[in-house]
Amino acid sequence: MATLKEIAHTMVSNRRGVLAADESIATMSSRLEGVGVAPSDENRRTYRELIVTTPDLADSISGIILADDTLRQELSDGRTFPAALADMGILAGIKVDTGAKPLAGADGEKVTEGLDGLRDRVAEYVRLGATFAKWRAVITIGDGLPSERSIRANVHGLARYAGLCQEGGLVPIVEPEVLMDGDHSLARCQQVTRVVLRALFDELALMQVRLDGMVLKPNMVVAGKECAQQPGVEEVAQTTVDTLREVVPPEVPGIAFLSGGQSPELATRHLGAMQNCGPLPWELTYSFGRALVAPALETWRGDASRWQAAQRALLVRAVANAAAR
Ligand code: 13P
Repeated sequence: MATLKEIAHTMVSNRRGVLAADESIATMSSRLEGVGVAPSDENRRTYRELIVTTPDLADSISGIILADDTLRQELSDGRTFPAALADMGILAGIKVDTGAKPLAGADGEKVTEGLDGLRDRVAEYVRLGATFAKWRAVITIGDGLPSERSIRANVHGLARYAGLCQEGGLVPIVEPEVLMDGDHSLARCQQVTRVVLRALFDELALMQVRLDGMVLKPNMVVAGKECAQQPGVEEVAQTTVDTLREVVPPEVPGIAFLSGGQSPELATRHLGAMQNCGPLPWELTYSFGRALVAPALETWRGDASRWQAAQRALLVRAVANAAAR
């Protein structure tokens, strides 16, 4: 059986990256409705089947993060999703957090939940074929935000999650996402990302999380969506790499970015530009959700006759991101 270190290495190396197909039932339902597809269990299953059966996906995708419902569903040929992924040479991951909920006493800030019972759930997910996991914490930038308490609460959750995963045999993807919402500058995003990552690595050390058996999934350092002054691709790439170099220990095997609402093309260009900011102590790759799957969903729209075209649309993004590496 592969060690945590070996699994983490497989996830981020060989010019491959991770695909996030772990939208919660509510999020997946609204994405389906957005393209005119009824948000049923069966349609969520069919859409996920489209994603995971895309031919040649394993050349650019090392692992796919699944949601709890998908892990328990089957493809039309009767295989479970993790079994189908294993046949293709792709690792199966599982989102184990139960969502970001309002933080008590905080103004619009959230804390991610899901620690209760997590040890038993990890054991079950391992039995179902998962080899890695994901937990996403969200940090909001705003007037006086983020607060110290939201940062501390969120990194505490991430570190305890990561420890439980490693104890149970799953590689944790540790995702502290500083959101793009707002009109803040690139410099402000950099400052907040730096503070959050510092707090995170302090907490991971406290909880004795093995850095060589995890993958960090951060935001890129970008300006807020509503900021009038949008930086260029090179500036985003350089600022992101500079920030990560300051705070991410070299023992971490890989950094796999979220796309966070960037267009698929821009996310790929940022990733490509970062590879020229070397030498880098870690692999820099993708763990995109929307930036990989949005064109496929848009192409499919629930129409069986567009199944292969949708798979080609996914493959175009996956290959472009692998090439950007
Ligand atoms: P996006 O790339 O769409 O931000 O999704 C990545 C993810 O897994 C968020 O948790």
